[in-house]
Amino acid sequence: MSLALIPGSFDPMTVGHLDIVKRTLSLYDEVVVAVLVNAEKTYDHNLEERAEMARLTVAGLDRVRVVASEGLLVELFDELGADVIVKGVRNEKDRAYEEKMAAWNLEHNPKAHTIFLQAADDYELINSTHVRELVRAGKSPDSLVVPAVVDYLRNRGELGEA
Ligand code: PNS
Repeated sequence: MSLALIPGSFDPMTVGHLDIVKRTLSLYDEVVVAVLVNAEKTYDHNLEERAEMARLTVAGLDRVRVVASEGLLVELFDELGADVIVKGVRNEKDRAYEEKMAAWNLEHNPKAHTIFLQAADDYELINSTHVRELVRAGKSPDSLVVPAVVDYLRNRGELGEA
C-alpha cells in the first residue's frame, strides 16, 4: 500500500487543493491530508477548524483521511509510514517556495521526498488568500471552496446572512 502525504495550512482548503488530492489518489493507494502549522503565518482559523474544513472538503472520497498536527512534517511522515510528500504548484513563485521546503524536509529526513503536481489551468488563480479576503468582506467564497465549507463558514457567522 502506497501512502502519499499532502501537507499544508489549508486556511481553508480550496477546490484547487481538492483537485490535487483527487489526482494524487490516481497515483497512490492512500492519501493523508496533513493540516499543519506554518510558523511564518498567522491564521484566520485554528488548527481544528482548518482540519474540520479539510474533512468537509474530502468527505465522500475513499482512501483519503485528514490529520492535524502541530509537529514537524518529517516526523509525521515517519509516524504514518508515508512514501512521499505531494504538493501542488500553480506557478514559478509557488515552485520556488515549495522547493525550499522540500529541500529542508529531505535534509531532516532522507526518506521524505516531495513530488510536485502542476495545478490545472482552471485552478491556477484559486488560493486560500482570496477565500479569506472574500470571507473578511462578508462575501461567500462560492466556487473557491466546496459548498459544505461555505455552509460551515456561514454557520459560524463568518459570512453574514444567506
Ligand atoms: O500551506 P502552506 O502554509 O504553504 O504549508 C506549509 C506547511 C504547513 C506544510 C509547512 O510550514 C510545514 O510543514 N509545517 C509543519 C512544521 C514543519 O515541519 N516545518 C518545517 C518545514 S519547512
